[in-house]
Amino acid sequence: MQMHRLEKMWLIFGISMLIVFLAVVGVGAFAMGMTPPGDHRHTVNPETVDQTEPFNHPGLRKIGENEYEAYLLAFAFGYSPEKLEIPKGATVHFNITSKDVVHGFEIVGTTVNMMVMPGEVNHLTYKFDKPGDFLILCNEYCGGAHEYMGTTLTVTG
Ligand code: CUA
Repeated sequence: MQMHRLEKMWLIFGISMLIVFLAVVGVGAFAMGMTPPGDHRHTVNPETVDQTEPFNHPGLRKIGENEYEAYLLAFAFGYSPEKLEIPKGATVHFNITSKDVVHGFEIVGTTVNMMVMPGEVNHLTYKFDKPGDFLILCNEYCGGAHEYMGTTLTVTG
């Protein structure tokens, strides 16, 4: 039996779409696995969060011997505070939420990778053993200047 060229084309198209679909689902499931479990979340009002403690003073708080809490706000298209600086070996408990749309918070070269949702505070703890400048990127598409949304975290030696 001979297949029509058009039929063959549709078959290839169908299979390609299936592969694309499975890839998207697979990547999505992988990304979900990177965020911490739901019991670490709590809700905030994204419209007033920048006037509400502790997010009205975003930044670092020293809570112990080389241990910090970091409160961060994500917005289109940046983060508050603009820069973070911690000493080598510091343990940082990140708390981050969005003032507007869904953003990402990925510290390149570390396992820190969070989805930042308006109305929710996401938490993650990381210990910075290596000094250097770490690039922080938004890895969720959030609009026109998404690809320029980022900042730096400096770990002093
Ligand atoms: Cu914020 Cu992409």
